[in-house]
Amino acid sequence: MSKYFHISSLTRSIISSIKPYSSDASKKEEVTQMFDGIAPYYDLLNKVLSLGIDKRWRKTAIKHVAAYKPKSILDMATGTADLAIQAAKSIPDVHVTGVDISSKMIELGKEKVLKQKLSDRVVLHVGDSENMDFETDSFDLAMASFGVRNFEDLEKGLSEMHRVIKPGGSILVLEFSNPRTFPFKQGFEAYFKYLLPVIGRIKSKDPKAYSYLYKSVKAFPDYDKFGEILTKLGFKDVTWKPLSLGICTIYEGVKK
Ligand SMILES: C[S@@+](CC[C@H](N)C(=O)[O-])C[C@H]1O[C@@H](n2cnc3c(N)ncnc32)[C@H](O)[C@@H]1O
Repeated sequence: MSKYFHISSLTRSIISSIKPYSSDASKKEEVTQMFDGIAPYYDLLNKVLSLGIDKRWRKTAIKHVAAYKPKSILDMATGTADLAIQAAKSIPDVHVTGVDISSKMIELGKEKVLKQKLSDRVVLHVGDSENMDFETDSFDLAMASFGVRNFEDLEKGLSEMHRVIKPGGSILVLEFSNPRTFPFKQGFEAYFKYLLPVIGRIKSKDPKAYSYLYKSVKAFPDYDKFGEILTKLGFKDVTWKPLSLGICTIYEGVKK
């Protein structure tokens, strides 16, 4: 039996079956292909589609990260390194290692790190979050923004994050969630399902990427469900804090 058994097999198969292109390739291959393709448009689209609020969400997440006073951070699914850069700018002397499966996203991230003169404190690598080379118990904190939803095997990726954190170290995940309050829930759903994919299609030139975004958020086990997964994987003091009426949520926990 798999070592990872805390998510029901139904939830696991739903998560791994939500893929951008529905081809014969695995979710991991499709996700890599998708982010390699949209990489040049990714930052701009984030800004446009979130009306600039994404920057504020990452800043808030890093305020929570800073409270743990970490010296070493792993940023999983770092993408173009916005969260890693924000951490290095806000936390003096912290060292951030960013990992992403898309080489194109990493390339752009490296350019931004260089421009910000942070190359001595932010190092980026191409790598798979579900199979990492890092030693066990090596980071003070592991974080991910808008990344874990894209993992092929969510539990394996989170278990790897748990493995590489020192005992007593922390995890912070910023991820989209599904707003629950009427009438915001209904209004946001209409925007997210119908308008956002159209803008995304035009700007990113990928007809599927932003409908995948909607589908993957819908299928994601958010709030208490994600909190429960973290607890079962060996985190204590698990909390979640919805931002912007639940468009996204910050999850935190401490490795036992
Ligand atoms: C929506 S982007 C988020 C990027 C960045 N963290 C941010 O806040 O903008 C999701 C990222 O997850 C990465 N990703 C997906 N699966 C991954 C995996 N198994 N290992 C590492 N990175 C992965 C993708 O390549 C992509 O860059």
